[in-house]
Amino acid sequence: MVSAFILSAIGQEPRMKRFGKYDRAKESKKQKLLKEIEDRKLPYLTPKDVQFEQLSKAKYPKLYIRRASCVPQEIHQKVQQGLTTLQDCKCFAQDLVQIKEKDVLTPVYRLLVGDPGTTYCYLNTRLFTIPWPSRGVEVKYSSDEIGKACKAIKDLNEYLHVEAMKVLLDDCSADVEEIGFVAKAATSTLVKDSGSMKDGTYQSKQSNTSAVLKDRTSFNVTLLNYMDPSRMKYLKEEPYFGMGKMAVSWHHDENLVERSTVAVYNYSCDDLVPAADESNTTSIKGRDPAVWHVGLKIAWDIATPGLAFPLDPGDCYFMLDDLNMTHQHCVLSGMQPRFSSTHRVAEVEFEWLRQFWFQGKRSAKVSDWWFEPMALLEKSWREMEQMTKLLLCEINEAEWSSERKHQVIRCLLPYLEERQELRKSWMARCQSRLARSLPVDEQPECRPHWYNGDSHMPLPFDLEEIISLLSSQLLSEDGDVRS
Ligand SMILES: *[C@@H]1O[C@H](CO)[C@@H](O)[C@H](O)[C@H]1NC(C)=O
Ligand SMILES: *[C@@H]1O[C@H](CO)[C@@H](O)[C@H](O)[C@H]1NC(C)=O
Ligand SMILES: *[C@@H]1O[C@H](CO)[C@@H](O)[C@H](O)[C@H]1NC(C)=O
Ligand SMILES: *[C@@H]1O[C@H](CO)[C@@H](O)[C@H](O)[C@H]1NC(C)=O
Ligand SMILES: *[C@@H]1O[C@H](CO)[C@@H](O)[C@H](O)[C@H]1NC(C)=O
Repeated sequence: MVSAFILSAIGQEPRMKRFGKYDRAKESKKQKLLKEIEDRKLPYLTPKDVQFEQLSKAKYPKLYIRRASCVPQEIHQKVQQGLTTLQDCKCFAQDLVQIKEKDVLTPVYRLLVGDPGTTYCYLNTRLFTIPWPSRGVEVKYSSDEIGKACKAIKDLNEYLHVEAMKVLLDDCSADVEEIGFVAKAATSTLVKDSGSMKDGTYQSKQSNTSAVLKDRTSFNVTLLNYMDPSRMKYLKEEPYFGMGKMAVSWHHDENLVERSTVAVYNYSCDDLVPAADESNTTSIKGRDPAVWHVGLKIAWDIATPGLAFPLDPGDCYFMLDDLNMTHQHCVLSGMQPRFSSTHRVAEVEFEWLRQFWFQGKRSAKVSDWWFEPMALLEKSWREMEQMTKLLLCEINEAEWSSERKHQVIRCLLPYLEERQELRKSWMARCQSRLARSLPVDEQPECRPHWYNGDSHMPLPFDLEEIISLLSSQLLSEDGDVRS
């Protein structure tokens, strides 16, 4: 029957996952913690402290730093050139995100680069990748320079993937049990040594280990960050340890494949370094406020000292395995403008249409790649609207038993309510004062959007009336609904 088909089609519409819902329980836990600390600040260590090594080994073992001198010169040169190109082309933009249900413009300027067609969502805002060159995919960049920059970022991605694999396989051999694998050492050596290791299960577990680790380090996107502290009027103070100004507050990374690595390449443009005397280095105990640092702490733990580690230009760091689950990190601002490239294994998710247009024509600056998939998606979305309309007609006209009718309405109603709720909240996000303060080519477009009574559209934009009609049908024929 057509209605059954329509119903199942609508039922299978990807439920829109709600992102970054404000967590009140967490907030009150945080307030309690801050109260407990009161005015005294918690201790933290930097590499200047003698116990730094020991503490980081004992409590932060899943943090791995790769010094710039160990990274191939060619990578440094191309990546740094690429980042500067992207900055010169004004490809970076502040993101309009939501924190605790409030619209906020990030102090950091960002740009997502990655596998064609991938996206990454954080704090309720989904970023769409500028595709890096990939076999079998044609990408038109708005200039050759930008194409080159994306290629350099991709090469860096490949390098970080290989390095992360090596580190993890070494790690595996060190504490096999804890990670839950029986095997140890790199597969390549194992295959060579298998003369002494005839056991087949050993070998298959071994290749399973590296298959799993490969998955967890196959970065498909990198979030590029850029911030010039001298242009920021206000940056939050780090509240627990007194680590100074934060560019990014304490957080766990969201929406990544579980236990996947995040690899970060760090770079500041040297020619923009401000005069040293401004930095006031010696006056403050703890980290040097002139130098960018990454802060790390164990979540909800006030007994273990935090860490703040500085990185030199070109240094990389890896947050391995479950570090993100047990620990939180923040980025502490220095004085120079700084770039970072943060490579991730992103989860696959939905809710693209509104998110895409919410960022205006931002992605078009670099490439027209997304317009075709978005047009396709919008076409499917229109079909969904049409299907919904057909089903509503069936409900009103078909000679169904009231039991059947109720069954169908009960199934449909939550989807309509959610659709309505999302439409309202996105409308509000698009029209916020902050949104309207953005540069013209970054201003949100509320799309899909239409005026009620638009004859091209099957249903009105505002679903309120339909929803209350359906609800009342449930109520009127369902005597004890209220009990
Ligand atoms: C690896 O092994 C585990 C447990 O034996 C299994 O659950 C998992 O599906 C395997 N993964 C792969 C990629 O083969
Ligand atoms: C990071 O940790 C948070 C909090 O434990 C968790 O909600 C989130 O899913 C984690 N992300 C990944 C990629 O593991
Ligand atoms: C340096 O620190 C001292 C003492 O904290 C302060 O009085 C002074 O204004 C600072 N100078 C600069 C340039 O920030
Ligand atoms: C990044 O590199 C700059 C210099 O290029 C350095 O000052 C800064 O401390 C580094 N670390 C971080 C976390 O940004
Ligand atoms: C990224 O790669 C991982 C691992 O291969 C995969 O599970 C995930 O779906 C990919 N994410 C996207 C957004 O394609």
